[in-house]
Amino acid sequence: MNDANKNNTSSVHLSLRAFVAIAVIVGLVAAVMAFGATGLLVTIFQRQQEARNPFMRVVDVTDDTVDPSVWGMNFPMQYDQYKRTVDMVRTSYGGSEAIPRMPDSDDPRSETARSKIEMNPRLKRMWAGYAFSIDYREARGHAYMLEDQTLTKRHQVQQYGNCMNCHASVYATYKELGDGDIQAGFEKLNPMKYEDARELVEHPVSCIDCHDPETMQLRITRPAFREGIRVAKAAEGIDNYDVDTMATRQEMRSFVCAQCHVEYYFAPDESRRLTFPWHKGLRGDQMLAYFDEIDFADWTHADTGAPMLKTQHPEFELWSEGTHARAGVSCADCHMPYMRKGALKISDHHVRSPLLNINNACQTCHKVPEEELFARAERIQERTVEMQDMALDALMDFIDSIIAAKEQDIPAEQLAQAQYCQRAATFLIDFVEAENSSGFHAPQESARLLFKAMDYMRLGQVALDPAADAVQELEEAPEQDDDTETAASDARV
Ligand code: HEC
Ligand code: HEC
Ligand code: HEC
Ligand code: HEC
Ligand code: HEC
Repeated sequence: MNDANKNNTSSVHLSLRAFVAIAVIVGLVAAVMAFGATGLLVTIFQRQQEARNPFMRVVDVTDDTVDPSVWGMNFPMQYDQYKRTVDMVRTSYGGSEAIPRMPDSDDPRSETARSKIEMNPRLKRMWAGYAFSIDYREARGHAYMLEDQTLTKRHQVQQYGNCMNCHASVYATYKELGDGDIQAGFEKLNPMKYEDARELVEHPVSCIDCHDPETMQLRITRPAFREGIRVAKAAEGIDNYDVDTMATRQEMRSFVCAQCHVEYYFAPDESRRLTFPWHKGLRGDQMLAYFDEIDFADWTHADTGAPMLKTQHPEFELWSEGTHARAGVSCADCHMPYMRKGALKISDHHVRSPLLNINNACQTCHKVPEEELFARAERIQERTVEMQDMALDALMDFIDSIIAAKEQDIPAEQLAQAQYCQRAATFLIDFVEAENSSGFHAPQESARLLFKAMDYMRLGQVALDPAADAVQELEEAPEQDDDTETAASDARV
């Protein structure tokens, strides 16, 4: 365009005849160029379409095709990687290790993941009286999600269809139950007995749960997340957030995972609705404040009688507080990085620990040797686990103190204060323990939560301490006699 203008300007000095001739030629050239450009644009557009859809549709995949092997005929490379989530490989703090077992009539598995409560018996006591103290194992690959849920010994307590949201391909099930209405199907599946709901599903998370079959775009298929992210955005001051129309592609690369890798609870009424407690925000202490406000408890602690909460895998929430989330790095960037397959680049559907795949998962952004990246990640995890250990030791002591105080019949109000501190400290310790990156997703935030848990235990010990109680009374009373004065100064020594 600029060049054509220059030509026109220089032509001013030419004769009229020459000018007309040149004008005709320029016009012709422009027309030819425009035509050529259009042709080129069409080609580029087609190429882009091909790049986005580098596949032949061998079979027809519809919005009811649940079986991943059918999708796999159109996308064999993604399907091959997807199937590899059966692999079990350990890292220092993550991955998973296959533990051989004798199959029996209750449980046909010949391998399971390691038992977390056997490796760390303090967890068992932390959850005394709750199903997690019966059976709680390391997570492993997506291929196992339905089997592991079906066979956990936590079924000694009646479980419901609300469990299914995150352990099976339920999109088509919701659709069928709700006559095409996903939300209605979700409401129907939630309160069903687990055994009945289990009859309605067949596969672990499948292609249909993350992809639109027409366009292969990512999509949200879980009503609990749609609602959860709406209330979380409202807490940030963004009203009427609609994830289906407002999320960016980069956000979707985390949101598809956030449908499952999050803290949750079940509404304590007959709806048994799966709910994400994000009404005050995504931080551990904000969720605690929300649970306090609605007066919710998962169970009563068997040793102390405290009204307790259980935290579950808050990966999305903790990641949200970290530097990578700030920098716009998504779950898929690290857990499903691009990989080369011949001339093509595909997303690695072998979802796993990125520490088993540092080359693709980290080195695209960090131009640092593999051992160095590994060391940086492990040092974060080492520190977090050290803090977590200290907090768990303190929690065991604190539980001992509450039991001893109960035996001494301390005033009900003091006991209730200590029980609240146990509830709060446990929720925050568990927030870091149940989060599966051992602090990597947000190191500083993990430390903050553990520090806060320590502070709750300190306050709880103060509430139980009769001498400290005397100090408190002393501070409250305007007039003091000499005796309390002495007790108080003793207590301060
Ligand atoms: C910057 C890279 C990065 C991002 C982004 C990231 N993770 Fe991770 N994630 C890691 C690392 C590193 C670990 C630790 C793995 C280990 O210990 O073997 C981890 C661990 C995990 C684990 C446990 C894996 C295991 O093998 O034990 C899960 C589950 C997980 N992340 C889910 C998520 C989800 C969901 C998101 C997004 C909300 C996310 N991650 C975002 C790097 C990342
Ligand atoms: C909001 C999603 C969600 C819901 C609802 C859910 N799970 Fe999970 N579950 C997960 C994720 C994510 C993991 C993997 C991370 C982990 O183990 O911490 C997991 C892991 C597990 C495991 C393997 C590790 C372990 O804990 O032994 C079992 C078993 C399990 N869930 C059972 C259940 C049962 C029973 C229910 C219903 C009471 C349920 N889940 C409801 C998301 C969910
Ligand atoms: C439908 C729910 C669901 C979705 C969606 C989902 N996950 Fe998972 N994920 C699980 C469950 C359940 C497990 C544990 C399975 C088991 O232990 O049997 C798991 C396991 C994992 C593991 C392996 C943990 C280990 O210790 O080996 C990683 C890593 C992981 N998920 C990351 C992701 C990422 C990243 C995404 C998004 C791209 C995602 N998940 C999407 C439910 C889900
Ligand atoms: C837990 C969610 C999840 C599941 C399940 C899943 N995918 Fe994907 N898939 C993704 C993500 C994330 C991307 C990257 C999309 C993007 O960046 O827009 C992707 C991308 C793709 C692409 C585009 C090309 C590429 O590789 O980037 C294809 C094709 C695809 N997936 C096929 C499949 C097939 C086939 C299955 C079932 C065997 C499947 N996916 C299961 C999350 C998932
Ligand atoms: C898509 C790009 C991207 C990927 C992939 C990525 N990072 Fe990062 N990482 C960043 C950015 C951006 C920062 C922020 C610091 C900065 O701006 O230089 C960061 C910061 C960090 C930090 C310091 C902050 C903290 O949380 O302590 C560590 C450690 C780190 N990355 C390790 C890893 C590891 C290990 C992996 C692979 C599992 C990984 N990163 C994958 C982009 C990435």
